Parts: sequence; structure tokens; C-alpha cells
Amino acid sequence: MDNEINILGIETSCDETAAAIVADGVRVRSSVVASQVALHQKYGGVVPEIASRAHIENIMPVLIEAFERAGIVKEDIDAIAIANQPGLAIALMVGLIAAKTLAFTWGKPLIAVNHIHAHLQSAMLAQGKLELPAVALVVSGGHTALYDCRSPLELTLLGSTHDDAAGEAFDKVASILGLPYPGGPSIEKAAKTGNPKAVELPRSMMGPDSLDFSFSGLKTAVLYYCRGQDMKGENKVAKMSQQEIADIAASFQAAVVSVLVKKTMRAADRVGAKTILLGGGVACNSALRAALEQMAQRTGRTMLIAPKQYCTDNAVMVASLAYHKFKAGIFADLTLEAKAGS
Ligand code: KG4
Ligand code: ZN
Repeated sequence: MDNEINILGIETSCDETAAAIVADGVRVRSSVVASQVALHQKYGGVVPEIASRAHIENIMPVLIEAFERAGIVKEDIDAIAIANQPGLAIALMVGLIAAKTLAFTWGKPLIAVNHIHAHLQSAMLAQGKLELPAVALVVSGGHTALYDCRSPLELTLLGSTHDDAAGEAFDKVASILGLPYPGGPSIEKAAKTGNPKAVELPRSMMGPDSLDFSFSGLKTAVLYYCRGQDMKGENKVAKMSQQEIADIAASFQAAVVSVLVKKTMRAADRVGAKTILLGGGVACNSALRAALEQMAQRTGRTMLIAPKQYCTDNAVMVASLAYHKFKAGIFADLTLEAKAGS
């Protein structure tokens, strides 16, 4: 353990309280995630005040468990890493205060990590050779973004969403269809028995050269399909058969996947990418994983997809990215602030 760099990562940007200890950026000694899904389920989305309170309750038990599972003590830790942006400000603050307190009292360096870049980093934990340059697609509940990736720390944003994030669209469409929160897994499950060609839905490409995304039109099209164009008709969902719901879910999922794959291909061609990276909560989606894999194979590129347990929010990705900052000597000080925006 003498020559290893052990980093404690902390993540509280949205609705998971997470801590992890990772050695040399890749060896996961422990990963603890306290999910708040049950608390937010009845509201159909994350309620910031509830999330913040739950982080306050969970942060100490999660940190203690991370050390217990790793079987190491604070003296073995080389740095404390925190995702300080983007996210819900009052949620980010809980993890940030914990990280600063530990860094100050233990006399350890503090490392600040961008949550979206950390999602991208989790794809680098996949088996396979990372040949650069790479194009990275990060698709989560809060973000949909394409990056030109020259190294774990050299990321240039190529495009992002103008409105809803991909995961947000999954969550909202699931709610329209009366499927449980979080919507992504519910839609994926329903879509398995549906016909993806059953309902014609818009696939916004935002122009021939754009690398940006827009999913709100697609979500609205599903809403109008279910409630009528003027929103005055009856909500047909209650009377729909399981098959009809499955058909809408499959058609919606196919539209999202098709846009994500085409845009990623467009970006990969533009930057001459040798590798495609995929991370974020929506990267759990099997249809998306398979379609991107196929595209990468067809175009002779390597595909690296985040392992499923590191797609949704976790602290392994935070500690893993922080390792590269540690090596590069990029540290934060105790004036570090939480930022809602990216
Ligand atoms: O990365 P994440 O945990 O949180 C954010 O940083 O936003 O992503 C959560 C999002 C949710 O919108 C959820 O519905 C979506 O990821 N998601 C999925 C699947 N599993 C989770 N979307 C599509 N298919 C899935 N299987
Ligand atoms: Zn996330």
C-alpha cells in the first residue's frame, strides 16, 4: 500500500449520498451509495430540500462505511475529493462541507471535481484500451453532453442539451405514461415488449452540423399523443392496454437512442475519435449501449462503456478523476464553493 495513492471521493450533487476509496484511480477499495429514490418517488422527481436533509443524515454513516469496507484508516488517505459542481446547490454543500472538514482536520489535500467530467471518467473504468482522441457522451438526469477528450483532464465541450436532459425526458415521459420513478429503468422495462415503430415521434437533430440536443419536443409529442393536441381531451393513458403503453415507451426510447447515436457519430467523425466513451445514468440503458456498440464496431472504433454500477451517481468516479488531478498537482483550497451550474 506504500506506493499507492488512495483517494477518498465524496458525491452529494443530487439524490445519492456516496463515498468511495479508490487506489491509483482504478482499484476500488470501497464504494458506498445511499440512494434517496424512495424519498422522492411520490413527488415524481427530486425535491432539493428533502435531498439536502437526507444528505445531512446519511453523510457520516456513508463515510464510516466506506472506511470499514476498505479496511484502511485515515492515515492511508492521500487526498479528499469532492464533486463541487454542477448539481443542486443545497445538496452539493453537504458533501463539500464534509470534504473540507476532513481535509482541514486530517491535514490532507482537497481536490475539486466536476460531476459531469466524473461521469465521463467512469467510462475509463471499463475494460479495454483507451486510444485518444476520444469522444465522450455523458447522458444523465441533469445533463446530456458530448466532449472531445484528449486526456482525463483535457475535455472540450462539443455540444449539450438546449432544454431537457435525456434522463429528464425518460423521467417525464414515464410520468406521462403512469410508470414509476425513476423513469429510465421503467421505460426500458416497458419497451422490451413494445414495437419501436408503433408511434411516429420527432427526432430533433438541431440542423445538419449541430452537436447540441433538444428532447423537449419529443416529450411534448408523447404528451399530445396521450392527451390530445389541445390538452383538453381525456387522458387516454388510463384506458390504454399494457401493449399500447409498451409501444409508446419503445417508440420514445428508439427516438432518444437514434438521436444520441447519430450525434455521437457526427462528433466522432469531426474530431477523428478512435474511442467512444459512454457514461451517466442513461448509460444503464441496454438499447443505447447496444446501438452505440454497434455504431462503434461498424466505424472501427473502440467503445468503452461505464460499468453499470458506476453509471448512476457514485463516488468512485469522483475519486478516480481526482487521481489524475493529484498526479498533475491540481488542488483546491478551503475557500472552494459549491456551484449549481457547470
Ligand atoms: O447520473 P444519474 O444518476 O444522475 C444525474 O447526474 O442526473 O442519472 C439519473 C438518470 C435518471 O434520469 C434515470 O431515469 C436515468 O438516469 N436512467 C436511465 C436508466 N437508468 C437510469 N435512463 C434510461 N434507461 C435506464 N435503464
Ligand atoms: Zn450524475
